[in-house]
Amino acid sequence: MKDSEKVFWDQMKNPTGNPHIAAINSPSKISSKLLLCLIFFVSFTYLIYSLKLLSSSRPCPDPHPFSSHRISNLSALAGISLPLSLHLPPPLSNQTELRHVVFGIAASAKLWEQRKDYIKLWFKPEEMRGTVWLDRKVKTDNDSDDLPPIRISGDTSKFAYKNRQGHRSAIRISRIVSETFRLGLKDVRWFVMGDDDTVFVTENLIRVLRKYDHNQLYYIGSLSESHLQNIYFSYSMAYGGGGFAISYPLAKALVRIQDRCIQRYPGLYGSDDRMQACMAELGVPLTKHLGFHQYDVYGNLFGLLAAHPITPFVSIHHLDVVEPIFPNVTRLQALQRLKIPMQVDSAGLMQQSICYHKSNTWTISISWGFAIQIFRGILSPREVEMPARTFLNWYRRADYTAYAFNTRPVSRNPCQKAFVFYLSDAQLNSTTGQTISKYARHRVPQPTCKWKSPSPASIDIVKVIKKQDPNLWDRSPRRNCCRVMRSREKKTMMVEVGLCREGELIEVK
Ligand SMILES: *[C@@H]1O[C@H](CO)[C@@H](O)[C@H](O)[C@H]1NC(C)=O
Ligand SMILES: *[C@@H]1O[C@H](CO)[C@@H](O)[C@H](O)[C@H]1NC(C)=O
Ligand SMILES: *[C@@H]1O[C@H](CO)[C@@H](O)[C@H](O)[C@H]1NC(C)=O
Ligand SMILES: *[C@@H]1O[C@H](CO)[C@@H](O)[C@H](O)[C@H]1NC(C)=O
Ligand SMILES: *[C@@H]1O[C@H](CO)[C@@H](O)[C@H](O)[C@H]1NC(C)=O
Repeated sequence: MKDSEKVFWDQMKNPTGNPHIAAINSPSKISSKLLLCLIFFVSFTYLIYSLKLLSSSRPCPDPHPFSSHRISNLSALAGISLPLSLHLPPPLSNQTELRHVVFGIAASAKLWEQRKDYIKLWFKPEEMRGTVWLDRKVKTDNDSDDLPPIRISGDTSKFAYKNRQGHRSAIRISRIVSETFRLGLKDVRWFVMGDDDTVFVTENLIRVLRKYDHNQLYYIGSLSESHLQNIYFSYSMAYGGGGFAISYPLAKALVRIQDRCIQRYPGLYGSDDRMQACMAELGVPLTKHLGFHQYDVYGNLFGLLAAHPITPFVSIHHLDVVEPIFPNVTRLQALQRLKIPMQVDSAGLMQQSICYHKSNTWTISISWGFAIQIFRGILSPREVEMPARTFLNWYRRADYTAYAFNTRPVSRNPCQKAFVFYLSDAQLNSTTGQTISKYARHRVPQPTCKWKSPSPASIDIVKVIKKQDPNLWDRSPRRNCCRVMRSREKKTMMVEVGLCREGELIEVK
């Protein structure tokens, strides 16, 4: 939950960069960890320089009242024996459902009027349980039936907060897990945290949670897209805006220690790093799941959404920071449009398929339910499955490649500029189980290309036929195949998406 803190972020937004960088440049007290810092300094200097960051001083951890023990002699570990037990997965008949989940939503009174619309997009009060935790009372409108119940977080003024760049609301937000647990709701398997500007695809959330035994200790979420965020915070932390899930027994263990734990880390910045610090004390690592999206980027998410990793699309965040995901509509309208394919086939949402139009030598990349790109020429799958950098780094001064995954530049060759088609409609034929989704060309000026191959400008609409596939994620992950079909309609391309056939290859001979 790097957020509501978001209030703070919004206030902090300035052209020179990011509060986290400033945090690192603030002088730290000399401590017994100085030597460690020096080593840290040397090894990171090259990196920081190469990232063209402010080059003055160094990240040194603040001296802490609580210090962890380093293992200096590995052979001391050798004597520990691990209990060996064989667990079978929980029975299918008792699978996790939405009713087993309780959401804890971090919100602030200040942004409530705007942000509540994001929550209304995904939260269904009649099917879901959850609470919005606010810092103070807000006017209740006539729309409270569409929203989770609102509660005011407990007083945290007695907790120490010593991070000069952050905001002490981080403590309140971190405690949402405990406060939600203490409501004592029945039959809870998972606590799922999110921000007021997080939109969940709840069916996919359940698909992910079903893979884990809720009777065990699990902390599930994802990292930031920004390599620097992950260095400054942690590569072991679930970023709160992307949402994260904590199993019931882990929440129970956390509640016992959380308040004392929070007191041990007054120097941390946010709520989610406080959470991670407590998880580290409990010894529970982050189970990383790439479908939770913090989206610590600016600009256009297109590149990321058009080449989503092969995993269920669980959440989307920082909606006020990035451009609307569909052009020429408001952020809210764009997300409302995304709900159409979500309702038709949530498992397939944002799943990529790659195929070729042989006679025209085009490459076709489909992000089901979102957009289609047609490129002139043949691009290999390994290129097309790499997100194009249509977005900007969270740290504006950072190297534009400083992401926690590979990206590719948007091609400068005028012939290789993609023709983009955005979702306009999706339907399910419930008799046949087939979905038909339509994508309309985004009409923007296309640079002149001298290649002789046919121009994709001849296509106005792409229709995609795909069987609804709710069990997609019960199988091993694999990209769907696509095939260009003959179309009887003018200016329309028909593409079929589905399971790859035995021996079917993505190649052009
Ligand atoms: C490491 O621990 C082992 C067993 O406790 C001890 O025998 C050994 O001398 C230690 N080595 C060092 C370098 O401290
Ligand atoms: C289903 O799971 C719940 C919670 O773990 C457990 O209490 C219950 O006994 C299980 N029921 C069956 C039929 O396995
Ligand atoms: C709720 O109030 C708003 C104005 O505050 C109004 O536009 C809207 O129609 C009302 N909705 C209902 C369901 O009464
Ligand atoms: C954008 O939307 C406006 C109003 O709905 C419409 O008049 C205009 O043609 C649209 N522009 C594009 C490029 O679709
Ligand atoms: C669904 O498909 C069947 C078989 O192709 C067709 O007869 C029917 O008209 C379709 N229904 C709709 C609503 O498109």
